[in-house]
Amino acid sequence: MDAIQVGIIMGSDSDLSTMTKCAEILKQFGIPYYMTVASAHRTPDRVAAVVKRAEEEDWKVIVAGAGMAAHLAGVVAAHTIIPVIGVPMPSSDLNGLDALLSTVQMPGGVPVATMGLGSAGAKNAGLLAVRILATSDQALRDKLREYRDREARSVIEKAEKIESTQ
Ligand code: RP5
Repeated sequence: MDAIQVGIIMGSDSDLSTMTKCAEILKQFGIPYYMTVASAHRTPDRVAAVVKRAEEEDWKVIVAGAGMAAHLAGVVAAHTIIPVIGVPMPSSDLNGLDALLSTVQMPGGVPVATMGLGSAGAKNAGLLAVRILATSDQALRDKLREYRDREARSVIEKAEKIESTQ
């Protein structure tokens, strides 16, 4: 089995459908990843254990998604020097504003690269992880350029379709 490159940790299984968007991107780029649930509040020891494993196995990036008072990404970042990408979940009565602020407002010295809320944030977390890995991988850089070109083509096709109806 290939060595894990990216860890995806989420605070609850209720975050799974959103965090799957991150996993889908990693799959698309052929990046070996490990995805699990560990809660900063409900299972703090488990969070520490997952991060210890990440350090031992030399994972390159950790993506942490959580909602409400979302301390998961920050706690993960406190336990490691592996780059951490935070994804706030819009799972609360505040529609995720609580998670966004909890994830983004880290004290100086403990960085978390915070994405936007929800599915787009999870997708971008996957893409940012790929970009980080691509800094030392030419083949991955080529794949990222192809991905960007495909996205651009799809927008142009949609524009042409709309224009053709006028
Ligand atoms: C957070 O609380 C989780 O990340 C989730 O987004 C939110 C709600 O969790 P559940 O009550 O659905 O398990 O810790």
